[in-house]
Amino acid sequence: MPKIVTLPGDGIGPEVTAAAVAVLREVAPDVTIEEHLIGGIAYDTHGDPFPQVTRDALKDADAVLLGTVGGAQDSAWNLLPRHLRPESGLLALRKALGCYANLRPVRVQPGLEHLSPLKAELARGVDILIVRELLGGVYFDGDRKIDGDTAYNTMRYTTPEVERVARVAFWAAEQRKGRVTSVDKANVLEVSELWRRDVTALRDREYRGIHLNHEYVDSVAMLIVSDPSRYDVIVTENLFGDILSDLAAVIPGSLGLMPSASLGDGAGLFEPIHGSAPDIAGKGVANPAAAIMSAGMLLRHGLKRPEGANQIDRAVALALREHPTRDLGGRADTQTFTRAVLSALETSPAVG
Ligand code: NAD
Ligand code: IPM
Ligand code: MN
Repeated sequence: MPKIVTLPGDGIGPEVTAAAVAVLREVAPDVTIEEHLIGGIAYDTHGDPFPQVTRDALKDADAVLLGTVGGAQDSAWNLLPRHLRPESGLLALRKALGCYANLRPVRVQPGLEHLSPLKAELARGVDILIVRELLGGVYFDGDRKIDGDTAYNTMRYTTPEVERVARVAFWAAEQRKGRVTSVDKANVLEVSELWRRDVTALRDREYRGIHLNHEYVDSVAMLIVSDPSRYDVIVTENLFGDILSDLAAVIPGSLGLMPSASLGDGAGLFEPIHGSAPDIAGKGVANPAAAIMSAGMLLRHGLKRPEGANQIDRAVALALREHPTRDLGGRADTQTFTRAVLSALETSPAVG
């Protein structure tokens, strides 16, 4: 029996994770689900945002489903030493699981173009996969300091780090349209020069069937919302991927429609890309679709059950048609939307 560890976390994390768990129990009733603490709530309970009990629970987990971590801008958590803050717990979790490739799909389902603030003809048919490097770059480099009136962080990548995430992007492109856009800032940064060189060399060596092109991150920030259909797979470093994926959430219409899968050495980590949304936390109005679709990605990539994942995607699309949440201009609250997904699951059983 597969074991899933859930880490609801802070803010709207528990609200959207409860919805995802309800859906998971329906689609995969045989899985064991064990809940643990991460983030601010783990710090408040154990003095550590990624406590040992949570680390121990991951040892025999087949996959991890995370909610969100972090507080509002004025939260007391933001005054803690950096290593004790909620976000550091999440980064330590990603590192502990060895999840170096973060898959962030951006999809506009047929018939849901009206949820996008973009013109329908621009949103229609968009299907992008952003592959974000997740364990390197400025996020993790030890060469960092704040000292008086000076501070620095270092963006550093090595060839093995670039190659392992690029491989995931090429592999994904092989199942899709066969096109990869590598995004960097090679006109300014040496680290991007290495990134571009290594991605190109790997394609030339092992993925000659893939069409690879390179674009600068500033230009992509414009093109991804003005001409999103030009992209199939995008591969990029950690910080660029973080920023571009929130921007890309505009295309389907909300951060609440952006799931993710983080893959690597061991058990995968599945989480919505949005944060803890302190402005709406506790009100029962968060859009749980990203968390529910992350549970779908968990079935697809973590448990190798694509039929369950497809079932979830279809049910979410149906629920979005009838019961859009407030972030999408609709009226459904979290519970109403979740019930709509559960009843869509009943009426559209697995067909693969
Ligand atoms: P955020 O993503 O939490 O919220 C940005 C805006 O989007 C807010 O207006 C919010 O209400 C809305 N929003 C986000 N998800 C939504 C959903 N599912 N349904 C409806 N509306 C939604 O970003 P922020 O405000 O910059 O960050 C808040 C906290 O979350 C910070 O502490 C930050 O560090 C943390 N954070 C955590 C994660 C994570 O756990 N993976 C990701 C991003 C930010
Ligand atoms: C995300 C978040 C995290 C990140 C933060 C909370 C550490 O923004 O998952 O996109 O920057 O990776
Ligand atoms: Mn982010």
